[in-house]
Amino acid sequence: MKITLRLIVSLLFVAALVATIFSYYQVQNEEERLTTELTLRASTLAESMEGSVTEPLLSKSPERLKKFIERFVKRNPFVGIAIYDSQGVFVERSPNIDSSKQEIIKYIMESTTRNEGISSFETINGIKTHIYTFPLRRDQQVIGSLILTHNVSYIEARLKEIWRYNFVRLLTLSFLIILTTILVVRWSLIGPIAQIADWLKGLRLGKIRQPINLPRGDVLGPLAKEVTLLAKNLALARASAETEAQLRARAESIWTPERLKEHVRQELGGKNLYVISNREPYMHIRSGGKIECIVPAGGLVTALDPIMRACSGVWIAHGSGDADVEMADKNGKLDVPPDEPRYSLKRVWLTKDEEEGYYYGFSNEGIWPLCHITHHRPIFRLEDWVHYQKVNEKFAEALLEEIEQEQEPLILIQDYHFALLPFLIKSKRPDARVAIFWHIPWPNPESFGICPWKREILLGLLAADLVGFQIQYHCNNFLDTIDRFLESKINWEQFSIERNEHVTLVKPFPISVAFPPIFGYDDQTAIVKDTLKLNLEKELGLSLKSLGVGVDRIDYTKGIIERFKGVERFFEKYPEYIENFSFVELGAPSRTHIKRYHDLLAEVEETANKINWRFQTKKWKPIIYLEAHHNHETINRYYKASDICMVTSLHDGMNLVAKEFVASRNDEDGVLILSQFTGASREFHDAFIINPYDIEEVADSIHSSLTMPPDERKLRMKRMQGILKEHNVYRWAANLVATLSRIRIGKNI
Ligand code: G6P
Repeated sequence: MKITLRLIVSLLFVAALVATIFSYYQVQNEEERLTTELTLRASTLAESMEGSVTEPLLSKSPERLKKFIERFVKRNPFVGIAIYDSQGVFVERSPNIDSSKQEIIKYIMESTTRNEGISSFETINGIKTHIYTFPLRRDQQVIGSLILTHNVSYIEARLKEIWRYNFVRLLTLSFLIILTTILVVRWSLIGPIAQIADWLKGLRLGKIRQPINLPRGDVLGPLAKEVTLLAKNLALARASAETEAQLRARAESIWTPERLKEHVRQELGGKNLYVISNREPYMHIRSGGKIECIVPAGGLVTALDPIMRACSGVWIAHGSGDADVEMADKNGKLDVPPDEPRYSLKRVWLTKDEEEGYYYGFSNEGIWPLCHITHHRPIFRLEDWVHYQKVNEKFAEALLEEIEQEQEPLILIQDYHFALLPFLIKSKRPDARVAIFWHIPWPNPESFGICPWKREILLGLLAADLVGFQIQYHCNNFLDTIDRFLESKINWEQFSIERNEHVTLVKPFPISVAFPPIFGYDDQTAIVKDTLKLNLEKELGLSLKSLGVGVDRIDYTKGIIERFKGVERFFEKYPEYIENFSFVELGAPSRTHIKRYHDLLAEVEETANKINWRFQTKKWKPIIYLEAHHNHETINRYYKASDICMVTSLHDGMNLVAKEFVASRNDEDGVLILSQFTGASREFHDAFIINPYDIEEVADSIHSSLTMPPDERKLRMKRMQGILKEHNVYRWAANLVATLSRIRIGKNI
């Protein structure tokens, strides 16, 4: 039976059952009410007549009785009346009553014996009649009986009417039930299911590539979500199969997630990969009464999540979201990504003091400015250093617990938050293969030398089997630093350091992004640039002609103020671009607990406001500053809609925004303006390389980018994408894993 029919039959059955039960009780009540009312009326009437009837009955005056009855009948034409004497002998009656009826005689006897009025129903001459027999008394003596009869067919008529009325009501209700069921089923089930089925069919046949528009009605919401994920996976699998096939055909060796997975499987022999970083890849936060899962901003997460998706394993990180505890199990673990789990995230919990000292203090007020040459003085406090050591120990414990059962586990430590971790791990597990990748620059020995705990940091790092940097220049600086401060044997040919018979290899591994990117890279779904721009115009309520974009954590190393000043100078020098070019800055607030970062937020906003005040018109602004934590989808829309992307870091290990922008441009258009102080500038020679401190140069680079001929733009973009294709993040991970797994491990550290 079809679902609609099944639903209708069930609903009708229930409605009919309920209507019948209620009608039955309604009829019962009505009958009882009418009968009681009738008995009451008859008894009141009989009692009121008693006085007028007993006198002529006693004085045997039939004439008076007759007259009384005639008067009574005139007033109550539907009531029958009869009078009997004390022996039950008929005396007088109205014409509408048959005095000889046996039933009446029976009731007279009974009422006389019981000395009270009796109410009963009889069918007399085919008519249902109510008979009220009342004993007539004088001085406590029964001297006769009074009979009152009422035709009660009106009660039956009334009861029938109730049944009829309720039946009509049931019919109307049934009609409405049928109509509503058909409409609801069609609207919220059959229609949307057909929509999903059509879409799936199109997808299977390769005719459709866009994501499904969520069907109406929330019933199918979860199904649609799952189906969308399934489709996405199918599309990805198809795309990578196609890419693999193309690569095989062209005999190229490009790294894909599948290839990396296979490579890691071979290198690790099925073992897990362990990643440790301060920042977690998925953070649960409370927002508007709900728990939301966000992907924190920053290059580290951008690069490592695709690797872990491909390789699986455990990622250990600080659980810093305000709803993180609730979303993890009692060991702080959960499977991520939440929508399609691929690996485990183990959250480490820190106290406020630990976070303050280790993260805000030593890591970000000490090492961060120490390694980034932006003329910002590092702050070194003893209590921060103590917390830094303690937290490194805490992470070491969390990891040691995880690798307890594993022989020669492979561990990838991330960044400057964990300089002591290699030592802490190797001293407990000398068999572990430990690499630390330093995502930020490494300064020259003079700069590094100001750190009061430089020896401890260097010794901590040297316990690793492999120390990775973004570029060769940082490796050179590191070796120089070791040479200056520690006694060791440096092999400048191998780029390795030997100390106490332990060898540490130092190598550059320029980090990258997934290419093709995981998010929003599908030729068919790419909305053309102009449509995207129009949509953004509508959202912002501002006119957007040519568009520039900047995407950053609000950090003083990113040169955001310099960038804005460059934009200002551009409008001074090229006023014809007023109302014809806008710069959108997507800025994610970062480390705002630190005064320098907190002040920077206000500075960035103030600079944007000042420039806007100078140039803005009614429907246009030179700088649109959107300060928020923007998700991948939003950032991608801006990347794709922009004519230029500006990366003006004053010092940057790599800068993955530059790489993300290039990766997102499946239209092979757009110009990248890139600071010469980023690691990325060593690879992207086709970007517009600038010195962000030179405001004139920044302004001119905007002009040259906007006036660059389309062919040149395309050529440059294609070349940059070529580099990205070959040097994507999968290759980065493959190199790192291969180098680490092939190192000969000494037992000393
Ligand atoms: C840089 C660092 C990362 C860090 C990211 C975001 O890219 O190299 O280690 O995660 O900035 O900073 P945050 O302090 O928010 O983790």
